Parts: sequence; structure tokens; C-alpha cells
Amino acid sequence: MNTVTVRKKSYLKGEFTPPGDKSVSHRAVMLGSLAQGNTTVTNFCPGDDTLRTVNAFRSLGVIIEGTGTQYTIAGKGLHGLHESSDVIDAGNSGTTARLITGLLSGQDFFTTISGDGSLRSRPMRRVTKPLGEMGAKIDGRAKGDYLPLCIRGTLLSPLKYTLPVPSAQVKSAILLAGLYAEGVTEITEPLPSRDHTERMLAAMGGSVERHGAAIRVQGFPELKPLSFRIPGDVSSAAFLIVAATILPGSEVTIRKVGTNPLRSGILEVLQRMGAQIQIIPSADEGGEPTADIVVTSSSLKGVVINGEVIPRIIDEIPILAVAAAHAEGTTIIRDAKELRVKETDRITAIVEGLKKFGVTAEEFDDGMAITGQENLSGATVPSYGDHRIAMAFIIAGLTASGETTVQDTEVIGISFPQFMETVGSLFT
Ligand code: S3P
Repeated sequence: MNTVTVRKKSYLKGEFTPPGDKSVSHRAVMLGSLAQGNTTVTNFCPGDDTLRTVNAFRSLGVIIEGTGTQYTIAGKGLHGLHESSDVIDAGNSGTTARLITGLLSGQDFFTTISGDGSLRSRPMRRVTKPLGEMGAKIDGRAKGDYLPLCIRGTLLSPLKYTLPVPSAQVKSAILLAGLYAEGVTEITEPLPSRDHTERMLAAMGGSVERHGAAIRVQGFPELKPLSFRIPGDVSSAAFLIVAATILPGSEVTIRKVGTNPLRSGILEVLQRMGAQIQIIPSADEGGEPTADIVVTSSSLKGVVINGEVIPRIIDEIPILAVAAAHAEGTTIIRDAKELRVKETDRITAIVEGLKKFGVTAEEFDDGMAITGQENLSGATVPSYGDHRIAMAFIIAGLTASGETTVQDTEVIGISFPQFMETVGSLFT
């Protein structure tokens, strides 16, 4: 078991470039594998989750050269994948498991997908139900709700489906299955969720259009390969953005961050809380907007966070909670029940963890209330086996008096293996 022990720091200064966006990296491998020709990506997310997707497609017969942050994917076209000789192990990665389930439903071979203990306890019916309506033959534990899932690929029919919860993973699983269905598949979202799949498909020449809340994709496209630099992950940048906001005297520049509006709600929420964040747009990368972000420390006030912004900040709520713990007044987060089915139950993890730092925090079924205070007290806290909880509590420790120890920190490698080095470099 790895642990990280930190003490209060004064301020952060300097600049850094965050690792590539995890969501975009997964999709580059998946769609690159289905394109005709070579897709080359740089600044690929070097975390364990995205490596799971690389290995999955290697086992499905795709030649993927490279390592670390640069890969070339020799796309084989829509019908070029072949049966894996072993179980596909998605590890901790919900995106790998759910998107691949959609993509492999329309193949003419058999697949089994499993994952680690956390992933095996996360709901899969949200994908297996609509895919079943398309004709997919999928079985799994609890009648297809939990991994391992077995997929007997078959010809799919197009579907018109309204998502019960806003989820880019479910939407993307259906969109990828829709590539293997003759005609138009239409998905309606209750609220907009991240649209990386739609953007990349369109950039590769697929036919995907948004009409109000509905997204329509045409089956059997011919996809062109796409070579690009993956934008920096705003979800990883968020930890340092919050640290620089809280610690007086900080000024940090974060280069080439993905600012897709369906991902960067954290910037809006922090600005509403009083944060000083300057966004300097730079060129699009792979159909995604990017910017340099300059953060200067400032005092924060509590706000209410609910409704349409929630899907746009869903992965940033652990670190937003740390910002709330330093804000004047109470921050209320609602409509965020999805946090209960992430890598861990993030509502319980955040509230229990912050209480250990001496913060007044209350759990709701769909969110939490956090009352800010001048000083946090250092604590020993678990990571709950969740990369974003681990990093959020390390940042909390850097702003708390005394010593903080975060346990089980190896999970940071899921999305941001260089996290501690990046933090260290900004304090020198
Ligand atoms: C992701 C979508 C989100 C997010 C996850 C990555 C994606 O999950 O929490 O970290 O890449 O599509 P949901 O779509 O299930 O909310």
C-alpha cells in the first residue's frame, strides 16, 4: 500500500502542461481502430485506464505501436477486428468497459469483459438494456447488470432511445453500436454530457448530428484516420487550479487544456465562487477547443451547484468540495446522485474525508453541503481506491495545518501518474 504524506505549503508558482485528456485518449484508440489507415496521437493520457483500452484493442487484433504518450493505431476499418483469445480486462476503467460493450455488440465474434473489484460493482444495465433493444446478445452477472459481461456479437438494429440519466459513457456505447446498425440511431439526453465521441466521429467523416437534445448517428460509415495532439485533461488540471486558488500568493499557468464546454464547467463554477481564472484560447486539437489557463489565488464564497452544470463537472466534484471547504459560507451540491456509482461512492467518500480534516459537511442522497472555514486540520484519510478522491485529499492536505497522510495512493496512476511530480515542481 502506497501512502503520501504532505504538510501545508505556502504558494504555487510556475507553469505546467497536464497529461492528455483521458476521455479523448480512450476514444482515439477506439475510433482509430475502426478507421481506414493510421491514426497517430501525441500527449496520450499515460494512465492505467487508457492503457487498458490500448491493450484491449491490441487483443482484438489491432496493431498499436508506441508507448507512454505517443501511439500509432493501424485502423482496420469497421469490420477488421477479430476475436480476443482471452478475457478483456478493463481494470478500473468504466469508459473502457461500457464503450467497448457497445462497440463489440455488432461484431461477428464473442467477447468477455471484466474488470477490478470496483468496476465489477458498477452498474452495466444502463448499457446492456439499450444495447439489448438493438438486438445485442449480452449476458452477465445479475442478468447483465455487472461484469463479467459476455457478448455474442450480432447484426444490430437502429434504436431511438432516451437516456434515463445524463451519461456520456452510455450515450457513447449506443453511438458505437449504432455504427453497426443499418440506418439512423437516435439518442436523447436529459442534459448534455461530454460530446467527445460525437466530435471525433464527425472529424473522422462519420455522420453524427445534434438536433436539440437528440443525437443522430448513421450506421456503417467509412471512417478516415485522424492525427492530432490530445488536449490536456481539464479534470487533471482542476486539482492544481483549485490549489492555486486556495493558497495565497499563487500564480500558475496551465498550458493547452481542453476547454470543451461540456467538460469545463469547473472553470465557471470556480469563477462564480470568486476564483481568478483567465482563459486564453489556443488552436483546436482533434475537433476539441483548447486554452491556456492562468490562475491567481483569491478568496472564495459558497454557492449552490445543481442542475445542468452537474454533468459538466461530474469528475471535478471531489476537488470542488475541497474548494468549498475553504470558501466563506456553505456550498450546496445537488442533482449529483451519479457520484454514488463512480469508482467509489464519491458522496460518502468526500463527506467522510472532509470531516476528518475538521470540516462541517453533510451528506444528501444526491449531493452534499460543505461549510467553509479558515483552516483545515491535517488528517489521515483513505483514498477509497479512487484516483480523484486521492488527489483531492492530497490537495486538501497541502492547505491544512499539520500533517496529512492519504492512504492507497497508487490509484493516482489511473489518470495522472505524474501528479506528485507536477505538484512538487510548482512549489520549488
Ligand atoms: C466519461 C464519462 C463520465 C465520467 C467518466 C468518463 C467518458 O461518466 O465520469 O470519468 O469518458 O465518457 P458517465 O458518462 O457515466 O457520467
